[in-house]
Amino acid sequence: MRRVTSPSSPLPALTPWPQRPAVRELQRHFEEVRSLHLRQLFQEDPQRGERFSAEACGLYLDYSKNRIVPRTVELLLELAREARVPTAAEAMFRGDEINFTEGRSVLHTALRLPREQALVVGGRNLTVDVHEVLDRMAQFARQVRDGSWLGHTGKRIKNVVNVGIGGSDLGPYMAYEALRAYSDRSLTLRFVSNVDATDFAEATRDLDPSETLFIICSKTFTTQETLANARLARSWLVSALGSEQAVRRHFVAVSTNAEEVARFGIDTANMFGFWDWVGGRYSMDSAVGLSLAVAIGPEAFGELLAGFHDMDQHFRTAPWPQNLPVLMAVLGVWYNNFFGAESHAILPYDQYLSRFSAYLQQLDMESNGKYVGSDGQRVPQQTGPVIWGQPGTNGQHAFYQLLHQGTKLIPADFIGFSRSLNPLGDHHDLLMANFFAQTEALAFGKTLEEVKAEGVPAALAQHKVFEGNRPTNTLLAERLTPRLLGSLVALYEHKVFVQGVIWNVNSFDQWGVELGKVLAKRITGELGVASELRHDSSTNALIRRYRAQRAAASGKA
Ligand code: F6P
Repeated sequence: MRRVTSPSSPLPALTPWPQRPAVRELQRHFEEVRSLHLRQLFQEDPQRGERFSAEACGLYLDYSKNRIVPRTVELLLELAREARVPTAAEAMFRGDEINFTEGRSVLHTALRLPREQALVVGGRNLTVDVHEVLDRMAQFARQVRDGSWLGHTGKRIKNVVNVGIGGSDLGPYMAYEALRAYSDRSLTLRFVSNVDATDFAEATRDLDPSETLFIICSKTFTTQETLANARLARSWLVSALGSEQAVRRHFVAVSTNAEEVARFGIDTANMFGFWDWVGGRYSMDSAVGLSLAVAIGPEAFGELLAGFHDMDQHFRTAPWPQNLPVLMAVLGVWYNNFFGAESHAILPYDQYLSRFSAYLQQLDMESNGKYVGSDGQRVPQQTGPVIWGQPGTNGQHAFYQLLHQGTKLIPADFIGFSRSLNPLGDHHDLLMANFFAQTEALAFGKTLEEVKAEGVPAALAQHKVFEGNRPTNTLLAERLTPRLLGSLVALYEHKVFVQGVIWNVNSFDQWGVELGKVLAKRITGELGVASELRHDSSTNALIRRYRAQRAAASGKA
């Protein structure tokens, strides 16, 4: 339950952005370095590639293709220090209520603590609670996987459908896709999130209800879309199996809200809990990952958690010049607040990471897409960027044109692996050749002289010039494993955290999603009846048109 909130952040107040000494210093510095070209920077420093690199938890970060000099990094780290990032991080790890607008601690890092590592908050050892749920998840996952969890008619479960949205969908869905190679291929996993019934219809059209298990995943268990889909799932199942009793063997819930789970009709014995100190978008390593645990098995799920924990430790203890989340955070701030970049691209060169940028959109944009600062005032500086992306090389044949020759500066993270999980033919070398080529092309481009030297006609020459100087980070790892994925996700969690602290926003609430929900509730009641409409003229006209077309269609039916 939500407690009465304390009105202000427990963290020490921050000086407004324009008055921060490091910001001023960075502004001066920016004027000095803004026109430097990566071509020149690499020529001047043959060690640059190694100098601007760091490695942790199996991830090698090359950030040398950024528009920085050593002094830039020093100043950016000073900005983070001035924004009291270490104090904020320790407050988070300790369980202080840094999500002060909701009166909550922020303890997703407790979800991956090893069993023997106690974390006592408010007199309670949270590690015990966490592992109790993990043990139940493991037991349940084993039962489904070994066929001992039977459906209502005595058949073994072959299909698992996760019903949830936002953090109750994106995390497990992304991770299931990422770790498909480790999954039990005799199980079919589906994810239903949209309140568009097409999502449910297409996800279930080829499934046998007697072999299908629904995991209804919702932190609050009040989310309109999820409850509508859960009700649809229940009637789909009950009408096929002919008994309400079937719900017991075919529905489990993941939630913090036992009362609502029971009200929906799911036995709370079939509920896997978590806690209000886990934000939805930070919850894939809680019971929200149940579908994933079933798919890949409890051991691999444990590996994933270990990977998260590895990165937590790294973030907490590594010196900042080697600290991956801190470096990536401050580089993002550099482009966002000094170069005026509006977006940031996530470009994984691995098909298994096809949903990674969608996942990061919620993680980053729901966390830092805020114009009100922790002091309740509008912040004077830019906050979170637009996050977007697609797996390579598909993006190369779609939007990379703009990355290379567009008028916008778009920093990008390239993520790749030295070993493929599907080593077929020479595909992996082809993929990775593109991976390396793209960051090279973005950084160094092609000059007019080079173009002319190729004999390109003068009229065409300018069109073939690549000005370069487009910044990228490269993350290279050996192989995509559950552990590596955990570290990768935690890297971005902490990156987002550091940026939120620097921008002085509360990264853990999401009030910006509320207004639309309230209005939708009101409009839902207006669509089927001919009541008077009291919206603006645009919304009124649209609803009238919808009503008319709906009525005409039902007349035809
Ligand atoms: O509407 C946004 C949001 O609250 C997200 O923060 C959350 O992940 C999602 O909805 C789903 O919420 P729940 O898990 O409570 O259904």
